[in-house]
Amino acid sequence: MAQGPGDLEGLRQRFLEGTGRSQFHPAGGSSRSTYDGQAVYHSNELLICSDCHVMHASMQHNYAGTTDPVMGISSFPFEPTPNPNLLKYNKLDLCLSCHDNVAGVPDVMGADVNGLTQRAGGHFEAPESNPATGHNLGYNVGPSTGFDICMRCHFGGTFATAQVTCVDCHTPHGYGNARNLQWASDPGAEPIFGLFVNPAASGMARYEAANVGYGTLDNNTLREVTSICIDCHHTFSGSYYVDPNGNGIHERHPAYNSEYNSTNTIAQGAAKGSTDPAHWNAGTGAGFDVPRVRFIVQGADTFAGTQVVDANTNGVFCLSCHYVHGSDNAFGLVWSNAQYGAGPSACDQCHNKSGL
Ligand code: HEC
Ligand code: HEC
Ligand code: HEC
Ligand code: HEC
Ligand code: HEC
Ligand code: HEC
Ligand code: HEC
Repeated sequence: MAQGPGDLEGLRQRFLEGTGRSQFHPAGGSSRSTYDGQAVYHSNELLICSDCHVMHASMQHNYAGTTDPVMGISSFPFEPTPNPNLLKYNKLDLCLSCHDNVAGVPDVMGADVNGLTQRAGGHFEAPESNPATGHNLGYNVGPSTGFDICMRCHFGGTFATAQVTCVDCHTPHGYGNARNLQWASDPGAEPIFGLFVNPAASGMARYEAANVGYGTLDNNTLREVTSICIDCHHTFSGSYYVDPNGNGIHERHPAYNSEYNSTNTIAQGAAKGSTDPAHWNAGTGAGFDVPRVRFIVQGADTFAGTQVVDANTNGVFCLSCHYVHGSDNAFGLVWSNAQYGAGPSACDQCHNKSGL
């Protein structure tokens, strides 16, 4: 969609008045590091400046004193075009120089060089290709933080062609939060996110979808990780948008959002028969021709807690249906037979409507 003409501050005010909130996200958390204390790369002592910056745009050898290629630099001498902020490459190719097709670094684009069964974040297609299967990576997206991100879809930008880059969602200078994720509209103010990695996993297996779980305490001590989606997809969750008149019959699909008073669980539809909690708990039959979709667990603050199947505490959230980077399926959907439409696969895990 395209919005405008008008001024950005006016747009911002209209958004806030409409939803009755004082800002996109209420004040964030106080301390910033993973909830379970697991180390995060590009953070704290693992923030290696020379992974991303080069001082003089000139290096005749690597830090070991040899001319063997290293992660992100395929040959020496390395004499790149000098980039703003002393970056080794432009800010998208910088990340992709290590995160595409380099063994031992999580691979976020196309086929997986590390051979994982399913990457937790899924995968992107090539930059500037505007795929129908997930986020569209671009080179000229403008500032990644603050209300400038609004311009991507408003004032000349359109939702259909808007683009993203890595540092919209990941802060380059991490401070230990899970996957270095940030609120694009208010970086640094975000709380700790409830993304937990199986403590028994090591190496690249720490990025395997089966080894990642999602929990929330519904407050700034520990918030669901999908609160980062709101900054750009601000009309898809929260009771103001999914059930505007509050009559319990939805106008948009609910997606767990504790900030915006929408803490849905799968059991909530039992009374009116819209969901089937026992069917979800059992895990077989209609909808389960594809693997159980991911879910957010209310009250879970450990990886083990995020693995407990119980319709009373399991909520449906963005990542139940989408891989954030993208997938082989339309709209980055998580289930594999979605070429022509969605369901009954996956949908019926919670709804059990097809009688299969
Ligand atoms: C994972 C890649 C990465 C690493 C590692 C990294 N940086 Fe950066 N740095 C960036 C990017 C990307 C930008 C530009 C940010 C933007 O355009 O949004 C940047 C910008 C900067 C800036 C200028 C803007 C600002 O934020 O003040 C400074 C100073 C800086 N980096 C210093 C450092 C230092 C010092 C280290 C090591 C302690 C470091 N960086 C490690 C990616 C990185
Ligand atoms: C010089 C290579 C290099 C560059 C450049 C680089 N990364 Fe990384 N990145 C790594 C390595 C190595 C790991 C950790 C792999 C592991 O877990 O053993 C990593 C891990 C990560 C993780 C997961 C952190 C965790 O512990 O959960 C994120 C997110 C990430 N990188 C984002 C970025 C972004 C965004 C950029 C660009 C601003 C970038 N990286 C640039 C090498 C690189
Ligand atoms: C990814 C695309 C995208 C981004 C980024 C985006 N918007 Fe929107 N915005 C939409 C869509 C889609 C609608 C709903 C369709 C419409 O109202 O025409 C919308 C509607 C609106 C509306 C009117 C309806 C309402 O009550 O929400 C306002 C105001 C608004 N956006 C403000 C903002 C602000 C402020 C930002 C930046 C923080 C922003 N938008 C960022 C896509 C976007
Ligand atoms: C729209 C937001 C967004 C963008 C853009 C984005 N990421 Fe991510 N990324 C995430 C989220 C959210 C996760 C956690 C996924 C999960 O566990 O479900 C993640 C996970 C990761 C991981 C861990 C591996 C995995 O599969 O979970 C790496 C590494 C990473 N991102 C790097 C990148 C790089 C490099 C780019 C740019 C090429 C990028 N990301 C762009 C949101 C984003
Ligand atoms: C920085 C802004 C930004 C953030 C944050 C963001 N998105 Fe997006 N998203 C976009 C834009 C812009 C588009 C439309 C163009 C495109 O496909 O990239 C989009 C498109 C999508 C699509 C549709 C892809 C398709 O193939 O049509 C899905 C699904 C999606 N986002 C999910 C998410 C989820 C889930 C999160 C949070 C984990 C998230 N996004 C966070 C900007 C963002
Ligand atoms: C119950 C499953 C489900 C949940 C939960 C869900 N989505 Fe979707 N989403 C879909 C499906 C299916 C589509 C494809 C369009 C359709 O059939 O409505 C879609 C489409 C989209 C699109 C593309 C819209 C367009 O105009 O092309 C975006 C962006 C998106 N989702 C983002 C999100 C975000 C952000 C969340 C969490 C706030 C979320 N979704 C939660 C199933 C879901
Ligand atoms: C992980 C569980 C889950 C999955 C998967 C899921 N949903 Fe839902 N869905 C819910 C929950 C919970 C509600 C809210 C139930 C309520 O309050 O009546 C809901 C509500 C709905 C509603 C509105 C019911 C009403 O009138 O309020 C429809 C329609 C719906 N879902 C369709 C779908 C479709 C189609 C899919 C697949 C693309 C899907 N759902 C996937 C959990 C899920």
